[in-house]
Amino acid sequence: MAWCPGSARSAERVRARAANKTKRKRMPKVIAMAGKGGTGKTTLSALLLNYMLHENLTPILAVDADANANLNELLDMDVSLTLGEIRRDLKGDIPAHITRDQFMEMKVHQALIEASGFDLLVMGQPDGPGCYCAANQHLAMTMDKLADNYRYILVDNEAGMEHLSRMNLRTIDKLLVISDPSARGILTAKRIAELTEPLKIEIREKYLIVNRTPDPMPAELLAKIQEATESADLPLAGVLASSDQLIRQELSGSSYLSLPQDAPVIRQAYEIFSKIFQQAA
Ligand SMILES: Nc1ncnc2c1ncn2[C@@H]1O[C@H](COP(=O)(O)OP(=O)(O)OP(=O)(O)O)[C@@H](O)[C@H]1O
Ligand SMILES: [Mg+2]
Repeated sequence: MAWCPGSARSAERVRARAANKTKRKRMPKVIAMAGKGGTGKTTLSALLLNYMLHENLTPILAVDADANANLNELLDMDVSLTLGEIRRDLKGDIPAHITRDQFMEMKVHQALIEASGFDLLVMGQPDGPGCYCAANQHLAMTMDKLADNYRYILVDNEAGMEHLSRMNLRTIDKLLVISDPSARGILTAKRIAELTEPLKIEIREKYLIVNRTPDPMPAELLAKIQEATESADLPLAGVLASSDQLIRQELSGSSYLSLPQDAPVIRQAYEIFSKIFQQAA
């Protein structure tokens, strides 16, 4: 029978579609860091997490996608199991009474480090030679399922972008490219942002954050940064000054989540992030 608008049957369809829509889960928004080694990706990930928790942009899955994981150190959290280790375990014998998928799911839940408002997951070492592709497929499926539990996924990357494709991410809602305060650094940041193109990941928004700027900021440097960002077609979200307080916090081993709200570095970071989140979150 043809579909006839206005009929009882069409009303039924509309109701069914609406019910389906509410049943369908909203996809989490993905925020990922990029930038040359040592520019401040992990520092800004920890500060962003601080901001998002403060603004109740939760629940968040924070993913440390650096082979030399250290986001956990800035958050003062201990890591006991990484996804790299789980993949390795999956190559060996698994208990007889469960499937590989169930095993993977169980292990990934063991690897989640739970905290208030967010969980942390550490990717660990990438595959060595003789990669067992099925393990990666199991992992990708488990990650997809896990992602449904969160409103945001925050990925701290290493300089390379390989982890992004390993995580089975198809979209990045906000890519934050971190640069040192020099025109050359900004051009490098632009090139790094372009490295995402062959990965076939859709990047919805890209922003540049220039880190470790002198305090106070010389007007000439700000003008140079603005000029470089305009020509790089990478909008500037803001600059974060070099902060002794961050260095002291890192040395003391205290979490960046416990930095006082009135600390200049927190105020500056919040200003940058609020600009980024003003775009429909
Ligand atoms: N605004 C800042 N003020 C002071 N120190 C900073 C600032 N940003 C980063 N640092 C310091 O610079 C060093 C490198 O920062 P970070 O580890 O965040 O960089 P990264 O981009 O994550 O490095 P990698 O590429 O190795 O992962 C750290 O010791 C960090 O404490
Ligand atoms: Mg890092």
